[in-house]
This record gives sequence, C-alpha cells and structure tokens, in this order.
Amino acid sequence: MKIRKNRVRLTTNVVPSRYEINLQPDLKKFVFEGTETIHLKLKKSTKSITLHAVDLVIESAEILGNENKPAQKISYDKANETATLLFMKAVPAGAGRLKLVFQGELNDKMHGFYRSSYEVHGQRRYMATTQFESTDARRAFPSFDEPAMKAVFEISLTVPSESTAISNTVPVEVRKKSEKLKAIRFAPTPLMSTYLLAFIVGDFEHIEKRSKDGILVRVFTTPGKKHQAQFALDAAAKIISFFNTYFDIPYPMPSLDMIAIPDFAAGAMENWGAITYRESALLVDPKNSSTINRQWVALVIAHEIAHQWFGNLVTMEWWTDLWLNEGFASFIEYLAVDRVFPEWDIWTQFLYADFGAALQYDGLKHTHPIEVEVHHPSEITAAFDTVSYSKGATILRMLADYLGKKDFRDGLRHYLKKHCYDNTSTVDLWNALSKVSGKSVTAMMKNWTGKRGYPLITVSENTTYFNLTQSRFFTSPISEKETRDPTVWQVPVGITTQDGKTQKPFLMSTRTERLPKQSDSWIKLNANESGFYRTNYPKRLQIELAEAVLHNKLKTRDRLGLVRDIMALAENGRRSTTEGLEFAKHYAKETEYVVWAEISSSLAKIHSLISQERFVKEYETFVLDIFTKIAKQARWNMRPKSHSGALLKILILENLSRYGDKATIVKAQKMFGGIRNGRNMIAADLRGVVYATVARYGDAKVYAKLMKMYKAETLHEEKNRIGRALGMFRQKNLLEKTLVFTLSERVRRQDSVRMIASVSINPYGRDVAWSFIERNWKTFLERYAGYRELSFLLEPIGLSTSVKRAKDMKQFIKKNPAPGTERTLQQVVERIHSNAVWLERDRRELREFLSK
Ligand code: BES
Ligand code: ZN
Repeated sequence: MKIRKNRVRLTTNVVPSRYEINLQPDLKKFVFEGTETIHLKLKKSTKSITLHAVDLVIESAEILGNENKPAQKISYDKANETATLLFMKAVPAGAGRLKLVFQGELNDKMHGFYRSSYEVHGQRRYMATTQFESTDARRAFPSFDEPAMKAVFEISLTVPSESTAISNTVPVEVRKKSEKLKAIRFAPTPLMSTYLLAFIVGDFEHIEKRSKDGILVRVFTTPGKKHQAQFALDAAAKIISFFNTYFDIPYPMPSLDMIAIPDFAAGAMENWGAITYRESALLVDPKNSSTINRQWVALVIAHEIAHQWFGNLVTMEWWTDLWLNEGFASFIEYLAVDRVFPEWDIWTQFLYADFGAALQYDGLKHTHPIEVEVHHPSEITAAFDTVSYSKGATILRMLADYLGKKDFRDGLRHYLKKHCYDNTSTVDLWNALSKVSGKSVTAMMKNWTGKRGYPLITVSENTTYFNLTQSRFFTSPISEKETRDPTVWQVPVGITTQDGKTQKPFLMSTRTERLPKQSDSWIKLNANESGFYRTNYPKRLQIELAEAVLHNKLKTRDRLGLVRDIMALAENGRRSTTEGLEFAKHYAKETEYVVWAEISSSLAKIHSLISQERFVKEYETFVLDIFTKIAKQARWNMRPKSHSGALLKILILENLSRYGDKATIVKAQKMFGGIRNGRNMIAADLRGVVYATVARYGDAKVYAKLMKMYKAETLHEEKNRIGRALGMFRQKNLLEKTLVFTLSERVRRQDSVRMIASVSINPYGRDVAWSFIERNWKTFLERYAGYRELSFLLEPIGLSTSVKRAKDMKQFIKKNPAPGTERTLQQVVERIHSNAVWLERDRRELREFLSK
C-alpha cells in the first residue's frame, strides 16, 4: 500500500463540534455496537464527507433534518484509515447533524476499544477498555480523529447491570435498559481531542479521597487489589494540588480517576479525567514493592497528571509537536515529585535518567529534530521516542534554569491561559516565555528543537584565555566523518571555578568564544550540568579535574557530568578507553547514588563491548576493584538510612553480582534457597538482584524454580522481576526456553518484548535472541505492527559488535519490513558499526592496561 503523504490529513471543510455517542460492548462475543450523532459545520456544501474509521462496519449514515438524508454509498480507504459517505444531493453549507450506526470488534491488540483479561477466584473474566492515542479513536467510533479537531463529547455506555463503567467525566444518568443491562450517561466533556477519550467497563473496586483543594481522586483496580492502590491515591492527591497551584488554572474535570489495566500497551495514558495505567505503573504492594518501583509509580502519576493541563487543556496542533506533550510532561513530572517527595532528590536522578538517555540517542547521526515531520500513523508512533521525551525534557530544564523559576512558571501560565481548549505549536510556547521573561527565547531555542543533535564544547587554553569551540557531538566517529553539520546552538554556559563559585551563565551564540583567564586554577563548564551539551577539556584541566573529583571538590551533578563526558569521548575516539577508566578510578571515595549509577552504566557498556574478548575476566577484576570501597556500605542486611541509600545499596550489589563477586553470589543463592512453597521472605528491594544473580550463575534447577514462581505470581511488578531474570542465564538451551515461553499464553502480550530484550542484552543470549526474532517475525508483526514494541524488540541488538549482524538484520528487515521501525533500524546499524570500530581501536591498549 502506497500512502500519499498529503492525503493523511482530513480537509477542514467539515468541522465537528459535538458528538453524542452510545456504545454497547459485548464481553462474551467481544464485539460492540455503536450509534452516534455528530454535530458538524460545513464551510461549503458537499456531496461527500470523509472521516476516520478503522475496522468498523458502518451500517448506516444519514444527515438529520426535517427529512433525513441517508448516504447512498459508504466506502473505505484502508491505507488512509477513512470512510467516505457519499450523498445523492449535496449537503448544504452551515450546521448539520450526521447520524451513524456501526459495529466493531473488542480486539485483543491493546488499542482502540479492546478487551483485557483478569482472574477472580481462579476464573477468567474480561473488561473492555480503550487506548486511543495516537490514532485509534477511529477504531471505536467514526470520527474526525486529529488532535486539532476538538469537540464536546457526550458519552453513554450500555453495560451489564453489575459492571462498573468509567469515562472521562462523571455519570449524570443511569437507566435500567433490561433485566441485565443499564445505560449510563456521562456529563458532557469540555472541548477536547479525540485521542484523550476513554471508556472502561468491568468489575472494579476502588478507593478514593479528596485533595486538599477538594478534587475527588479515585483509584480503580480489578477485584482483590485495592490494597495496592493507597500509595497512588495519596501521591496523586498531593500532585494534583501541586499542579493546580503551579499552573494557576483549576483542574477542569469533575474528578480524577486512575485505573489499573491488566493488559496495557504503553506505561500509562493521560485520558482526560480517566488516566489508565499498566498495573506495575500504578500499584504498590506494601510488602512486595521495591523502592525503585515506588519512585517509578510516583513519576508516572506526576507525568500523566501534568498532561491534564499540558496536552489535554492545551494540545499540539499536529503530532509534529508531540514533544510539547511528552517532553514537557517528562520535565515537569520531576518538579512535582520533588515537591511531594523532597527527600528523594529526584532532580539529580534526572541527570542519569532522561538527560543521559537524550545524550546517547541524540548523539547518533540517525536521530531527528524535536519538531519532527510525521504523517502516517506508523510515523506518529515512532515519534514517541527518547528525543520527544528525554531531549524535550532536558532542553526545558536548560531553559528553566536559564530563565529562572519564576519567569519560567509565569511563561507557562501565560501560555496555558492564552491557549486553553485550543491547539498550539512550539513557537507559541517560546512566544509566551519570551513575552514574560523579556528574553529572546524563540531565537535561543530554535536550533534545539529544529535541528538534530547537540554540541560538544571543546576547551583549549593559553596563558591569558580559554578558548571554547562548539561543534555537533557524534557518538560514532564514522558518523562524524560522514556528516558535516554546521549548526551553531545558543548554549547557556555556566562555569564552576576552583574557589567553589558558580558564575551566572552566559549565552554562547557563536562557534567560538574566548574567556579571559583570571588565574591558573581549573574551571568546570556546564555548572550543575544544566545545559544539553558535552565538554572536552585539554589535558591539564582534565588532570586537575580528576584531582578535584578525588578530593571531593565538586558538586554531585558536576562529578557525574565529568565522568559521563569522558566516557563518551572515549567511545567517540577523542580519548582512549583506558583514559576513561583511569578517570573513573578517581571516584573510589564517591558516595552518591546517581554518580555511581552513571559510572556503573559506563562500565557496563564497556563490559558488553568486550564480552567476547578473552580479557573480559581481567576487566571484571578491575571493576570490582573500583567498587571495593563503596561495597563496604552495601551489606545485605543493612537498613539504608535514606531513599538514595536504598537505591545505592541495590546498585552496588547488582554490580558485585554482575562482575562475579563470590561472596555476593553465594549469599544470593542462599537467600533464593530460602524461598519454599511460595513463601518468599526476601525484602522486595533485594529480589531483583537475588533473581538476577541466581540466574547468571545458576542451572536448570534454578531455572525451573524461577519459572514456577513466574507462573504463580499475581503482582505484575514481581512478575517483571522474575521475567527479566529468566533472560539472564548463560545456558543457550535455557535462554531458548525463555524465548519460546515469552510468546506463550502464560505471558501477557504487553510483557513479551521486555523479556526478550533481557535475553538480547545478555551477551550469552545475543545470537539466540536474534535468530528467535527472525524466526518469529511474522508473529511479532501480527501482534505489534504500529506499536513501539517492534522498536523495543530491535533496539538491544545495537549492543552487538558484529558488522555481519548489522548487515543480516538490514537485509532481513528489507525483505520483511515493519512500518515505524525504519529509524530504529538505522540507529541499530549505526551503533553496531560504532561499537566495532571502538573495539578495534582500543582493544590492544585495553588488554595491556588490564593485564597490569
Ligand atoms: N501519552 C503517553 C502514552 C502513549 C505512549 C500513548 C505512546 C501512545 C503511544 C503517556 O503520557 C506516556 O508518556 N506514557 C509513558 C510513561 C511515562 C511516565 C514516561 C509510556 O507509556 O512510556
Ligand atoms: Zn506522556
């Protein structure tokens, strides 16, 4: 099917203003019936009306009036996902009403109007639920399914008398339809986009409370799980109050419902007033949930609640500006969590999480500008990536730091008030921030959102000044050679000096800049790691900064930034890997969790790179040595004093396990041995590392036990932990078993790809995983075509160092294409080539360095 790009958007000739929709799902036959009346405005008279519809059968369509005018012909355009209604006589310009009767399937693909299953007392039951973003409202009812086609929706659902029905607003009328059925009508929604609607029908229990400013918040779970909802309820009530004040616009819906859905494609979805989540992103079990999961839940909730304003109240005009939704929510979620859980120091974790991910992804040649041209649904799905989320969040943090808290907040308020119930593009946000701050935000941000990549600032010096030069950073030296990118960014450069002071950032807007030298003391660029760039220092400064790290003269974020950049420069070939490792040794006395997290992931990258080399053992000894001192703080039974202490403890144990520390392995095996007859006394925080360890160093017996635990488990979070461990064995036959298992009935479709990724990441699993993916490609396409899952499946292959693998994969996908994975494929190939030259370049020096 060839898709003509300009045909993807609907005409603006016909504009909907109101939909009255009734849907009746049948949870036995997995179908639904619907009727709707759409209030329209026609700019000029027309004989045909085209609107979106996928996998729907439209039984009848008519224009209502004194005399109803039925459509003569209803035709479907599969490629463009539309239906066209053809009328005998032209429908006159002006207001009109279109009535449609239709049917659809409650599919099992986790999009549109779909079914999800759960068990109550060992019995399987089904619910009907929705996932419409980006372009799947059209699977539930014929609609003008574009974000700028905002309308009012009046939803009613006809459902079994004993079922709970949830939608965006609150019920205003419940009518008994028959002995078995009731019809629930919900209050009309505000003016909103189709992708934010939600309908959910099933057996639920819930808990509720009011936020301190009076908003009703409820959390719904399937029967038997409401005791896992308390953390989310408390967090959401606080978070929504925070945003209410911060945005200075009252939450516009009558209540905030949050619903845990057992089968869910994304992590969570911000439907206005009815946020849906996968269970692991919402539920916290008081006994069996880990610290990191609790933190994850808080961040996800904050993210989705932020969308209630940013995204729902003000919406991007088209998916090209998706980052306005996702980048913004990914930034502001931290602000909210920082207020509600100040002791977590969550902003520092931002550096490692979003900022770090953005640096890696956007260091590729095959990245894309934040503002990305997209047309067809598969291209839209592909835009939900690290650039839209994490780069978006990182450049907003940079801007917020530069403008200051107050101007940034006031600019946002201005933007939201000016554009509420309307649509915007990137420049509208910059204009609002420019206006309030008096600074030229539009000029400053243009290349951050309009161009690919980010700068590397190279520092050189003579006796009187420092010289700074910016040029685009590439992770791969091959890509750097291939691309001549002349972009100059406006970079806010803040500087920390040896006397501990931080200078106010200046805006570097030219390719090079001179800084007069005050003294011969050192400087650290990117104070607080506020800007989205890397720094390359001359030898003298690098040595002095290493000393400053050793003697703890730098702030946490600056210590993190230094090791991150030098490791990236080693990968890119400006430095050698041994230089990077030498630098890392200066962190022996480090105590901060995030800094260790950064070091640990850099070291793991090298570990993966050399996993097929004979000197990998020496490398493991080297890394264990770096961890020696901090390892003393990570006793299994020690009770961490703080949140980050708890995370640090797990991180260290995980490293000790990965690099083969004997005592750690033995202890983990002993703890695992203690799990008997389904009784698991291991603290939730320790389970991930215990399971991983017994898998890495275990046999078929351990495997069988983990498998049994997986099958019996009902807590989604725990299932994920076990599932990941099933991919960490070293025996090919066991990994094969895991792979086959991921596609069985016992694994929910939402979880398969993550388990497979666990095998792909495992150096012992790389080859079996790839051949499994090849063999089952058809199944993956059937299950996940049009989802991010396909990209998630391919991404881990980028860890390989085999140019042959890159070639095979390229050929294979060329023969068996999957729309929406094009860019991921290019990235994987780019990363593999980059790994291969990295290894070639540094292998010898590294081997010699490690043999000492
Ligand atoms: N709007 C997204 C959900 C979504 C993602 C819909 C992809 C369609 C395609 C939601 O706000 C979101 O960003 N969810 C994240 C989790 C979040 C906390 C980072 C997700 O699903 O990955
Ligand atoms: Zn989001």
